[in-house]
Amino acid sequence: MTTIPLYDPLSPDMLRDPYPTYARMLEEHPVHWHSGMRAWVVVRHADCVRVLREHRTFARDPGRNGEKIPDFRQNVQMMDPPEQTPLRQLLVSAMRSQDKDRLFREAVAFLRGRLTAQESGEPFDWMANLAAPFALHMSAALLGVPEPDEEAYAEISHGIALRMDAGLAPENIPQGDAARKRLNELGESWFPRPEGDTGLIANLIRRADKEFSGSHYIRNSAAMMFNASYGTIFAMVGNAAYLLATDPGLLPELSRPSLVATGVDELIRYDGPAQGTSRIAVSDTTIEGTRIAAGDSVVTLLAAANRDPRVFADPDDIKLDRRPNPHLGFGSGPHACFGSEFGKLSITAVINALSDEGMRLRLAAEPTRRTTATVRSLDTLPVHLDQ
Ligand code: HEM
Repeated sequence: MTTIPLYDPLSPDMLRDPYPTYARMLEEHPVHWHSGMRAWVVVRHADCVRVLREHRTFARDPGRNGEKIPDFRQNVQMMDPPEQTPLRQLLVSAMRSQDKDRLFREAVAFLRGRLTAQESGEPFDWMANLAAPFALHMSAALLGVPEPDEEAYAEISHGIALRMDAGLAPENIPQGDAARKRLNELGESWFPRPEGDTGLIANLIRRADKEFSGSHYIRNSAAMMFNASYGTIFAMVGNAAYLLATDPGLLPELSRPSLVATGVDELIRYDGPAQGTSRIAVSDTTIEGTRIAAGDSVVTLLAAANRDPRVFADPDDIKLDRRPNPHLGFGSGPHACFGSEFGKLSITAVINALSDEGMRLRLAAEPTRRTTATVRSLDTLPVHLDQ
């Protein structure tokens, strides 16, 4: 059994830059048992894709391993096909019916307002003053619900991000579960909504048939979507801004219409917010010749797979025209992100708003990082906005 005692996802070095360690793991330890997480860690692209797609062998739903899931944690993300399929299809249809052009215009207008309100040259914290309000505004606009209080919501989201690291820091579970219950309460307040409203919730209510209307699965899933949107947009707007602030050539390149779509995908491959996810083996299997027993947890490190040289040439370089770019920043298989287009639209809006206003980001001081391993996010990003 291969163990790497020095691999600690929450250590300051790993939080700052996990990629050299991932590179070593990709070459030397494609599958290893992490005693802290009590899980197999899988890093190669092909292995991660297999684990994520082979849902009959690798469960997302812990109930398939005999664990009882309390009602407040039941949502689309905790179910597997075939039970998951009708609910996921309903949510995907509601997502697809949203007017992307309207949401994009709304995103750019919001960002322009915030950016032009900043004193030119004066340093400010990008995360608190831009990423957080933007993520909240866009998530509320997508779902068609009132914006929750910014500070209270940031606390809920952070609690849920800490809960994702339960394997590493079980002491965070009570705080995380309390945050999930508060999120569900918020979700409850969005149902029912009047007919004719725009937004994803109103659309869901119109589409839901007897099977789902009134079910806590749909309300919990809607709440979970709000947070999946808020948490990832917050983190990715920060990760992208850090890259823009440290490489002055990036924004002019990214702003070229021919590069923006592939460029945004490349930023997500290069330094996305979702570092990994996990599954539970429900039958004995092997990965890279290592035996995985039924009941074992398997962590797929998506961010490591996104630097796998077997799939990505020069994986540590940002290539804005990288095509194809089969990165796993949005996962793969039956749990792949269905908010990916909206997530990319939001990042594109940041690029457009900055370049339309002729603005450049410049670091004002070193950023600080959140001590979360599953979600890779800055906590503060002090920047100047130059014109
Ligand atoms: C850049 C932004 C985003 C990134 C990097 C991202 C990443 C991911 C990843 C990696 C997964 C798969 C997790 C797994 O397999 O366990 C996922 C699932 C999910 N994401 Fe996103 N996401 C983003 C934006 C969004 C947005 C805007 C929404 C809005 C609704 C959203 C909703 C979801 C949902 C509902 C799932 C669970 C799907 C399921 O389990 O069936 N995401 N996301």
